[in-house]
Amino acid sequence: MSVLKEAVIANTEKVEQALLRLIPEGEGREKRLFDAMRYSCLNGGKRLRPFLVMQSAHLFGVNTECSLRVAAAIEMVHSYSLVHDDLPAMDDDDLRRGKPTCHKQFDDATAILAGDALQTLAFEILSEPATHEDPSVRCALVKSLAFNSGCEGMVGGQMVDIAAEGQTLELGEITHLQRLKTGALISFSCEAGAILGKADEPHRHALHSYAHDLGLAFQIADDLLDHEGTEEEMGKKVGKDADAGKATFVSILGAERAREQANILAEQAKRHLDIFEDKANLLQDLAQYVVDRRT
Ligand code: IPE
Ligand code: IPE
Ligand code: MG
Ligand code: MG
Ligand code: MG
Repeated sequence: MSVLKEAVIANTEKVEQALLRLIPEGEGREKRLFDAMRYSCLNGGKRLRPFLVMQSAHLFGVNTECSLRVAAAIEMVHSYSLVHDDLPAMDDDDLRRGKPTCHKQFDDATAILAGDALQTLAFEILSEPATHEDPSVRCALVKSLAFNSGCEGMVGGQMVDIAAEGQTLELGEITHLQRLKTGALISFSCEAGAILGKADEPHRHALHSYAHDLGLAFQIADDLLDHEGTEEEMGKKVGKDADAGKATFVSILGAERAREQANILAEQAKRHLDIFEDKANLLQDLAQYVVDRRT
C-alpha cells in the first residue's frame, strides 16, 4: 500500500471518530433529524477535504486536536452539500456513497433539515474555544467557511450548475462554475491549515494556488468518472451529467482532452507546494491521486 493510501486511511478513521463525537445522538421527537445527520456523514466517502485540512495544518505544526475539529466541520458542510445536491429538486439521485441517498432513506423534508443542521453545527464547532485558543483565528475560520460555502462559493456554483443545464458553456464559464461548485470547499480545506497555523503570506498563497488547481482537477476527474466510471466503483449513479444536459469539461473538450487538462492541473498543483519542501510530499502525491482515482 502506498504511503499516501495508508495516511488517508488513518486520517479517515480519526475523522470518523470525531464526527461520531461531534454529532449528538439526539433524543425525543427530533431524534430522526440526528439519525439523518449521522447517516449522511458516517456513510463512507473519501474524506478528501478533512485530509486536506489535516495535512495543510501539519505544514505549520498545528495541534491535531484543533485541526481535527476543523476537518470534521468541513466534512459536515460537504455532506450537507451532497444531501441537498441529491434532492429531487436538484440532481434527483437515489444512490450516494453506495447507499440510498438521505431523502430516500428518510424523506425530503428530513433531508433538507439534516443538511441545514449539519451546516450550522459546522459553524458552531468552528466558533468554540476548543478549535483554537485565539478568537481571531476562530473568527477567520468562520469567515472563510461562510465565504467558500455560500453565494460566492459552493452554493453560487450549484446555482450556475443548474442554470447551465442544456446550455453550451465556454471553457472559461465551466472553469468559473467548477471553481465555485467544488473548488471553494477545497480552497477552504487548504486555507484552514494556514489560518490555524497563522501562516505568512507566501505560504498562504502557495496553498491557495495548490487548492485552485487541485479543485479543478478534482472536478474534471468527477466529470470523467461520471462519463466512464462504474456505479459500483463510484457508489453513485453514473452517466447522469449527459442525461441531465450538464455543462462539464467532458461535454466541451471530450474525455481525452479533459484528462490531459486534469493532468496538467495536477502537475501545476504539485509545483506550487515546492516552497514547503518534503513536508508537503503527501499533498503533492494527493494531486496525482485525485486525477487517477476510480472512486
Ligand atoms: C463529490 O465529492 C461531489 C463533488 C464535489 C464532485 P467527493 O467525490 O469528494 O465525494 P465523497 O465525499 O467521496 O463521497
Ligand atoms: C456536486 O457536484 C457538488 C456539490 C455538492 C457542491 P455533482 O452534482 O457533480 O456531484 P455528484 O456527481 O452528484 O457527486
Ligand atoms: Mg449537482
Ligand atoms: Mg449530483
Ligand atoms: Mg458529478
